[in-house]
Amino acid sequence: MGVCPLDDFLRELESLRKAIDEAMERAISGYPCDVPLIREAMAYASEGGKRLRGAIVLSTFESLGGRGDATPFALAIEMIQAYSLVHDDLPCMDDAEMRRGRPACHRKYGEAMGVLAGDALLTLAFETAATSDLPPYRVVEGIRALAYGAGAAGMVGGQVLDLGPGTDGSPGSASGAHLPGAEGSVTEAQVLGAAETGGTREASGSWPSLNDGADAVRLMYRLKTGKLFETAARLGAILAGAPGDIVRKAGEAGMSFGFAFQILDDIEDASQGGAEDQKDTLPKRISVEKAREEAAEALRRCKKLVTECGGPDFLLARLADYYLASKLGLAP
Ligand code: IPE
Ligand code: IPE
Ligand code: MG
Ligand code: MG
Ligand code: MG
Repeated sequence: MGVCPLDDFLRELESLRKAIDEAMERAISGYPCDVPLIREAMAYASEGGKRLRGAIVLSTFESLGGRGDATPFALAIEMIQAYSLVHDDLPCMDDAEMRRGRPACHRKYGEAMGVLAGDALLTLAFETAATSDLPPYRVVEGIRALAYGAGAAGMVGGQVLDLGPGTDGSPGSASGAHLPGAEGSVTEAQVLGAAETGGTREASGSWPSLNDGADAVRLMYRLKTGKLFETAARLGAILAGAPGDIVRKAGEAGMSFGFAFQILDDIEDASQGGAEDQKDTLPKRISVEKAREEAAEALRRCKKLVTECGGPDFLLARLADYYLASKLGLAP
């Protein structure tokens, strides 16, 4: 009997997850630090993830012919992912009690420790990435990509949009969506296009003005979730020494996947009720059916872009297929 490609894919994903888990455990429990409590909270927060972003770093690196070990960057992006979730769950953010099937970090260690464990994971991410023995110019470029994707122009910016108007005393946008400083002059294309220039752009001092509330939510999704997936794929390509157009395409593929991922997460969260039910989401804006169609379109775009990078057999393309089939019941 032939081997089922789905089984192969799941086995590969599982083996990457295990490898990342083991390396993560070593990195944190072996971290020399005189304050065991913070290390314990960091270890707690770093456990139990699916490790999709780290797996995308490793598999993209390998598929694009990378030589050497990209593990420090897979760990780094997963440390940033873990920190983002610890902070996301804090009472001042989503106020969530559970994370990865057990009490959220701040529920176990207290709110102040939650803030500090997040801080410590974020800084350890960069310390870990800097230990990479890949060519130094690629490591520096990778560290820059990581900082850009995680920071104000990326995930953190998206989390700010997610907070909604009023939480920081700002007036919010005219559309009533999550955009403080509604008169901004930066367009969505400029914000998202920044990745294409390697992440540099002139700061305008304001957020984009988007008239359509659904577009505002789309931008929030791209930043808070798309950017870390974009960064994962870009890192794999940058570290492998891929040419600029491949780095860009891989990044766009990651962004498309992350965008779909957040739509599907919001649909799932809504079906389970809970605190995040109060949130402004794409399914609420345009209907669950239309949001599902948009997720499917983004997953297909992801696959197309990965194929253009060199192979439909890349893990990210198969991940897109897997999400199409398992979350949307659609054939690739
Ligand atoms: C959770 O991401 C946050 C969202 C972007 C919805 P994951 O579902 O990838 O979380 P872990 O890392 O596997 O726990
Ligand atoms: C994404 O959004 C989280 C981050 C960018 C940190 P959610 O708030 O929807 O993630 P979950 O549902 O708590 O995992
Ligand atoms: Mg959130
Ligand atoms: Mg949340
Ligand atoms: Mg959610």
